[in-house]
Amino acid sequence: MAADEPLVLGIETSCDETGVGIVHGTTLLADAVASSVDTHARFGGVVPEIASRAHLEAMVPTIERALRTAGISPKDLDGIAVTAGPGLAGALLVGVSAAKAYAYALGKPLYGVNHLASHICVDQLEHGRLPEPTMALLVSGGHSSLLLSSDITSDVRPMGATIDDAAGEAFDKIARVLDLGFPGGPVIDRLAREGDPAAIAFPRGLSGAKDPAYDFSFSGLKTAVARWIEAKRAAGEEVPVRDVAASFQEAVVDVLTRKAVRACKDEGVDHLMIGGGVAANSRLRALAQERCERAGIRLRVPRPGLCTDNGAMVAALGAEMVARNRTPSDLELSADSSLPVTDPHVPGAHGHSHDHDHVHEVSKENLYS
Ligand code: KG4
Ligand code: ZN
Repeated sequence: MAADEPLVLGIETSCDETGVGIVHGTTLLADAVASSVDTHARFGGVVPEIASRAHLEAMVPTIERALRTAGISPKDLDGIAVTAGPGLAGALLVGVSAAKAYAYALGKPLYGVNHLASHICVDQLEHGRLPEPTMALLVSGGHSSLLLSSDITSDVRPMGATIDDAAGEAFDKIARVLDLGFPGGPVIDRLAREGDPAAIAFPRGLSGAKDPAYDFSFSGLKTAVARWIEAKRAAGEEVPVRDVAASFQEAVVDVLTRKAVRACKDEGVDHLMIGGGVAANSRLRALAQERCERAGIRLRVPRPGLCTDNGAMVAALGAEMVARNRTPSDLELSADSSLPVTDPHVPGAHGHSHDHDHVHEVSKENLYS
């Protein structure tokens, strides 16, 4: 690690994880996360007001824990980065306010960054600098997108996105139908290992010849799986939970990997990165590896702990902003719950404008509906 690499603290509060990471260039020094997921579990989804209150309580202790783990003093920092959006408005506000307070009190530059670009940039902490260009498949409870980036601090181009549910949302909803608890991804992943992925032919959304090549749809699949389960129950038959989990999971990861590899081939990009909570899925990782190898594409997937929401990813992007001399945000920076994916970096109220008609991500608030 070079001595002149930037030392950056990153704060993430877009959903239910209060994350604080400290990064030196592309080296991870601390990754402290306090999650309120258990509090939301009994509601079957994230409750925004509860998330905001939990962030408020966890913020300062999590920052202090990260500083202790990294063994640094705040005065050594070269910048403070924070997720400015997209995400839950009230939750984002807690992180943005904390980041501004620390930046102001310490006299350090502030970088408001995009949550989605951070999910991509985090891979630098594990596999070194991102190749340019990189295709990224971002799949989580709030987003499912294919993004092409030639410079993660300034250029993120949406290739496609979900037109309805996010991939993780589909996992969570099917888990709820099967009474498996929340969040659904990890438990479906585990049960699917003992099931037959070919047992039930569930639909592959938007996979027809005339369908958009890079967009996703999981709502039809979700309905098909729920109906199949209901029919079994109505007939008084036992639901083969492992086979349902495996067949549902296969339908999701088949479409995700096929479209991601196709986008790489069409654009002549030979690196695919997969990030977001669903990237922790073991079948998604295995099938992506298999299909990328066949297509001559190098696959980069961070370890599961870096795929789910965390502060290290924000610090990683902040460090890249400093390294590339991007203009810091001003202290007027505000949280933007529907920040477009095309804005990796938010300069603040002055000198910033963007068009809200851009493709933007489905909020995790949908989980609660
Ligand atoms: O990135 P993340 O922590 O939060 C955001 O949504 O931003 O992702 C959480 C989502 C949840 O929907 C969860 O069910 C899903 O990621 N997930 C998984 C797995 N682990 C987490 N989905 C499938 N397989 C997994 N192993
Ligand atoms: Zn996320």
